[in-house]
Amino acid sequence: MREVSKSYAGFNANKKVNFNLKHGSIHAIAGENGAGKSTLMKVLFGLTKPNSGEILINGEKKSFKSPLEAIASGIGMVQQHFALSGVISALENIILGAEPQKFGFINHKEALTQLTQIAKDNLNVPWERETNSLPIGEHQRIEILKLLFRKAKILILDEPTGVLTPKEVKRFFELLKNLKAQGHSIVIITHKLDEIFELCDEVTVLRRGQVTGHFKVSSITKDDLVQAMIGRRLKNLPKEKSFAQNDAPSVLKVQNLLVSKPGRGKLSGISFQIKPGEILGVAGVEGNGQQTLVEALLELEKYSGQIFFESKNTKNLNVRRDLNYGLISEDRHHQSLWLDESVANNSVIGLSSRFLKNCFLNFKAVSEFSEKVLKKYDVSMQNVQQKVSGLSGGNQQKVIIAREIDGRAPKLLIASQPTRGVDVGAIESIHESIISLAQNGSGILLISSELEEICKLSDRVIVLRNGEISAEFMGPQYDTQKIGEAMV
Ligand SMILES: Nc1ncnc2c1ncn2[C@@H]1O[C@H](COP(=O)(O)OP(=O)(O)OP(=O)(O)O)[C@@H](O)[C@H]1O
Ligand SMILES: [Mg+2]
Repeated sequence: MREVSKSYAGFNANKKVNFNLKHGSIHAIAGENGAGKSTLMKVLFGLTKPNSGEILINGEKKSFKSPLEAIASGIGMVQQHFALSGVISALENIILGAEPQKFGFINHKEALTQLTQIAKDNLNVPWERETNSLPIGEHQRIEILKLLFRKAKILILDEPTGVLTPKEVKRFFELLKNLKAQGHSIVIITHKLDEIFELCDEVTVLRRGQVTGHFKVSSITKDDLVQAMIGRRLKNLPKEKSFAQNDAPSVLKVQNLLVSKPGRGKLSGISFQIKPGEILGVAGVEGNGQQTLVEALLELEKYSGQIFFESKNTKNLNVRRDLNYGLISEDRHHQSLWLDESVANNSVIGLSSRFLKNCFLNFKAVSEFSEKVLKKYDVSMQNVQQKVSGLSGGNQQKVIIAREIDGRAPKLLIASQPTRGVDVGAIESIHESIISLAQNGSGILLISSELEEICKLSDRVIVLRNGEISAEFMGPQYDTQKIGEAMV
């Protein structure tokens, strides 16, 4: 890609970007939230038109008006949010829109023959199963198979490992290395530095729409990479001490919680307490009851057992409204944001009573508040009046964090995957905010599939496995091996 520029309403998402992808290599694109990573790849895949610049494939100039044209040139992309249909089979999803035909009918047999060829040993998925019933790692493989079925030689993957378990990530990396050995070229957008060093040959770094570095991975250090990404080094401050007030009454007390649901959502025998100032980490492979636990705590799920917030039984209360719980939800699009509304309005959801003046919302105060809380997280945007849907994924997450931690200053914060999709600089700010909330006496339930994050922040860790607490560990030092073993 040569001198590619793309702007949205005067905002430069990409500015004269040069990007060279070599045959048979894996090339990472890294950089802050809103740096323009997804935009650049959307241009390459024909999803959006650049304002200027050129695309050359094998030296030949191309201009894609749609993904169909990009696919015809051997380019395929898996988006940041998967887009499979849940109610049809894996096979149907893979061939959708590219079905082999015979006498005017879809030829499933032919499709299956071709696919088993492509899949060989390491890409097999249960072809006939309904997609919804498959674990998320299989969804990822289905997305990749979709591209290979369309004969893609260049594969673009936008933050592909965010939702995978560590085991799935390992298998996924093997797959990518195999594809590379077969001569495919792969672009992977990622915030995870370890992935860059483990998997990639080259890395291009974007910052505010421009390239700030292009390196051979074997010739740089992590510090160099971070410097190019965020323009400074990470402080890497350890959490100094626990702020848990162990003699105080608990902020949250859960006794013998049971949710009888078939499959991955069930919970049984869950008991724990969180003291003021305490950060309790919940480790575990996703889909082991974490989501159900959050829903039960919010009184959105039927349960037996008891939940107390500062010794008040929460049964049937609207806990978010009446008890002012802070919530960073795993599903940001459905549970935390009002996508069609402005950034400013999104920063005060659930807080708006503070901004009423003679029964009307004081817009000026809302904007000022929004600007103030967002400043700390370096949110990249035009202004707070723009729609939140126009922000990059990581920046949307920052809006939620600012509202729930800094805006709400809750007595209890439920933080589920708080740093998913967030850049390294912002992860640091979010961790600092969580720690300072604890320092001010709030209790925090931290649910994360990032073990490193759990171990860094938590005063105590419980492991959820199959809906039960399989182990408990006391900080500040943790044996990650042991925690990992309790997870599976
Ligand atoms: N459809 C759009 N309308 C308006 N602005 C947009 C649109 N798409 C992207 N932008 C802006 O362009 C910038 C780059 O966005 P992009 O999604 O490429 O970032 P990114 O590097 O992928 O970030 P992240 O790591 O958070 O996914 C952002 O500041 C975003 O607000
Ligand atoms: Mg992106």
